[in-house]
Amino acid sequence: MRLDGKAAIITGAARGIGRAFAEAYVREGARVAIADINADGAAVTAAEIGDRAIAVPLDVTQQASIDAAVATVEERFGGIDILINNAALFDLAPIVEITRASYDKLFSVNVAGSLFMLQAVARSMIRRGHGGKIINMASQAGRRGEALVAVYCATKAAIISLTQSAGLNLIQHKINVNAIAPGVVDGEHWTGVDALFAKYENKPIGQKKKEVGAAVPYGRMGVAEDLTGMAVFLASREADYIVAQCFNVDGGQWMS
Ligand SMILES: NC(=O)c1ccc[n+]([C@@H]2O[C@H](COP(=O)([O-])OP(=O)(O)OC[C@H]3O[C@@H](n4cnc5c(N)ncnc54)[C@H](O)[C@@H]3O)[C@@H](O)[C@H]2O)c1
Repeated sequence: MRLDGKAAIITGAARGIGRAFAEAYVREGARVAIADINADGAAVTAAEIGDRAIAVPLDVTQQASIDAAVATVEERFGGIDILINNAALFDLAPIVEITRASYDKLFSVNVAGSLFMLQAVARSMIRRGHGGKIINMASQAGRRGEALVAVYCATKAAIISLTQSAGLNLIQHKINVNAIAPGVVDGEHWTGVDALFAKYENKPIGQKKKEVGAAVPYGRMGVAEDLTGMAVFLASREADYIVAQCFNVDGGQWMS
């Protein structure tokens, strides 16, 4: 029960990695708001997790939606101790085919969405005066470019940078901002990624997934549960002295 009595909001938690974080936080004693643009999916996930989870509709690209979600969670839980900025979109194209629409969408959700969620929750934490923990979802994709993944990689590099700046600015309020950089994590998200690679690298469906899994030194793709230990640790008191860092949890992928 390392998060006993804590209140968390996790964006994009209707499915995938965010959902696994929500389940792990509830197991550790926290109450969790499943905040997602997929309101129906969030409601189903919250109901399946149980009475310590609530669903909150949230579109991180809309300031009014961010403000409403934060106000709802403050009201339901009496304050916010933990935010995980997990919601993100992926896209892929060669440089000469990138569209402004794709660029705007990815930066709006992945970067602006994370920054303004972080800002709204930090304001709430500062008003309350108890400090808090904020975890941003980066990626190994933020640590280097990839030929077909320029925009997504750039959004995740921005997340690593924002984590550093926000971490340095907010620690005076005892708000720790850190990030997790996963490698390749199996789930519904990767079905879409695999299909995009199939199109641009001319591979059969499922081939790219096999290749990326085989390339991980650990010997397989990650699963969402591989990341929950770090997410619990960074939200716990054991991480009080950790500031502005980004941790690889990737089966050794980045090192290889
Ligand atoms: N899966 C991987 O291989 C991998 C690797 C590295 C990093 N990551 C990062 O981990 C995080 C979770 O990834 P995942 O694989 O679980 O993704 P996912 O696509 O399964 O889940 C993303 C969730 O975000 C929600 N969402 C999308 N737009 C939103 C918006 N505007 N407002 C609120 N919610 C919105 C979606 O409805 C969805 O539930 C992301 O930040 C992703 O970039 C994933």
